[in-house]
Amino acid sequence: MNWPKGLEGLCYGGDYNPEQWPEKVWEEDVALMRQAGVNLVSVGVFSWARLEPAEGAYDFGWLDRVLDLLHGGGVRVNLATPTASPPPWFSLAHPDALAVTADGVRLTHGSRDTYCVTAPAYREASVRIARALAERYAGHPALAMWHVHNEYGTGCHCDHAAAAFRAWLRARHGSLEALNDAWTTSFWSQHYSAWEQVMPPRATQYLPNPAQVLDFRRFLSDELLAHFREQKAVLRELTPDVPVTTNFVFGDWVPVNQWDWAKEVDLVAIDHYPAQNPPEETAFAADLARGWAGGRPWLLMEQAVVTYTGPRMAAKRPGEITRLSLSHIARGSRGAMFFQWRASRGGAELWHGGMVPHSGPDSRIFREIRDLGALLPALAEACEAPVEASAAILWDPESGWALQSPGFPSTEVGYLEAVRQAHRVLYRHGVTADFARPSADLSAYELVIAPSLYLLSDDDADNLRRYAAGGGRLVVSFLSGIADGHARVRTGGYPGALRDLLGVRVEEFLPIADPVTLDDGATATLWTEHVHLAGAEALARYPDGTPAVTRRGRAVYVSTRLDDDAYARLLGLGPAAPVESVRRGDWVFSVNHGDREQAIPGNLLLPPGGYAVARVPR
Ligand code: GAL
Repeated sequence: MNWPKGLEGLCYGGDYNPEQWPEKVWEEDVALMRQAGVNLVSVGVFSWARLEPAEGAYDFGWLDRVLDLLHGGGVRVNLATPTASPPPWFSLAHPDALAVTADGVRLTHGSRDTYCVTAPAYREASVRIARALAERYAGHPALAMWHVHNEYGTGCHCDHAAAAFRAWLRARHGSLEALNDAWTTSFWSQHYSAWEQVMPPRATQYLPNPAQVLDFRRFLSDELLAHFREQKAVLRELTPDVPVTTNFVFGDWVPVNQWDWAKEVDLVAIDHYPAQNPPEETAFAADLARGWAGGRPWLLMEQAVVTYTGPRMAAKRPGEITRLSLSHIARGSRGAMFFQWRASRGGAELWHGGMVPHSGPDSRIFREIRDLGALLPALAEACEAPVEASAAILWDPESGWALQSPGFPSTEVGYLEAVRQAHRVLYRHGVTADFARPSADLSAYELVIAPSLYLLSDDDADNLRRYAAGGGRLVVSFLSGIADGHARVRTGGYPGALRDLLGVRVEEFLPIADPVTLDDGATATLWTEHVHLAGAEALARYPDGTPAVTRRGRAVYVSTRLDDDAYARLLGLGPAAPVESVRRGDWVFSVNHGDREQAIPGNLLLPPGGYAVARVPR
């Protein structure tokens, strides 16, 4: 299954920040790690200032001792390059490498991620520290993996960023005239007559140009990836057999196109911090990660022992750490890792919890961590077969970015919300879904959902046509196929690129404040459209009799936001599933997140909060 050598078994551990503690604590750490079954820790994620206390002067002594200690305790090391947090001396020596916000404020060190990824001094310093680490630890028996940087996603609007953006735009568009055309600069007198006039989307008087904003996000994804690749090249050169990864983070602010990045990492790793509905959000994140990994195993690199719910941060409920970890593993993670090993006693994240909480190992949290560590080795066999999924949801981060454009007809509809709803409905009814790129071969899926696939190329539209022509069931929701790659509307009626496939022509968008009831009883909220049938039949109609949900052959169009039950009915789903269940070959993972006993395959009864991994041949 292409899982890197050296990471056999399920990985268990977390971010380990020994530099926050006196050395006498380290011995206890390793002893407790052994008790807890920890076999992998991420070290040095934020250690730059300790590793390179002055430019070009290194202090590796402490890290040598940490790695030796861990190795002696049988714990493998996922060694980080510390580039997510340059030291204060660096910022003072290279003030031009400090990030500038869209409104022109140059940030100051004192937090983390305060750099401009395009600043030459930062790029050089990043490669230098990565090289120094690789030279030092090549061949160290504890070194199992490289963890480059942390949660890539930070942007900048400074002059370095402007210059790099222009270079990227030249490569993308070829000529200034092509850029003017792609960005529709004829609107509001934005025509550029020299490259130097083109800027990152800095603060403007009124709405910025949406195509410029979209290209800047794409540029950031590529530029951050270039930073990753530079480090990876050095690590490969010096440690060719050690896998290299970075931890992907969730959030609609993240300018990272995971499809492109996934090709560059030796294994996909994610950090996941659910907030409102942890089981559903966990399944969503895990299925996405598996999608990015192309169905191969991936790794949950960080989760917390606390849940962040709006204004509150509270310890996960008894059993919850285990259940959510199992859910990730069921869906393809080769283990469960945490932020962080030992809860910090100072610093900005002193309340974020740890596998060893402030109260120490004599605690409910640590006991659960220990029990989970004891459980994991037994699961390895069940993780061999691939996760089985009959449905796919199309994921396109660029559509998400484009739908964040200011000046949109409704601020209440959003890409992530549409994707999450599709996943949630399948999840609640026990259907495991993959996530796929719109260009992927979809022929193996019984059902494909395209939620708000706003930007759609002609090739990807053809791919959907091929899928439907091959007998696949395709469900497309509103705001799909609307724009080309430059966020320009495809004229002649929405949903542009998909009109013929869906057999509809939409004349107007009609966002609504109050719900309406469709003639099949479904509740429609937020968004409606004036739909004309052009080859399709109506499955449900708005109160004024115009079509709301349509079908042509096996292709369904949903022009509004349906309530979850109506969505499930439309998809033909069975009753709600009381237990999360994932099949992998003969093995079925079952997790009961609810408060009632439930029967599961294999004639088993799962108590409230219980779980089972059972061999249940079909
Ligand atoms: C993650 C991050 C960690 C830590 C954690 C706190 O997003 O990678 O360094 O900040 O959040 O929950």
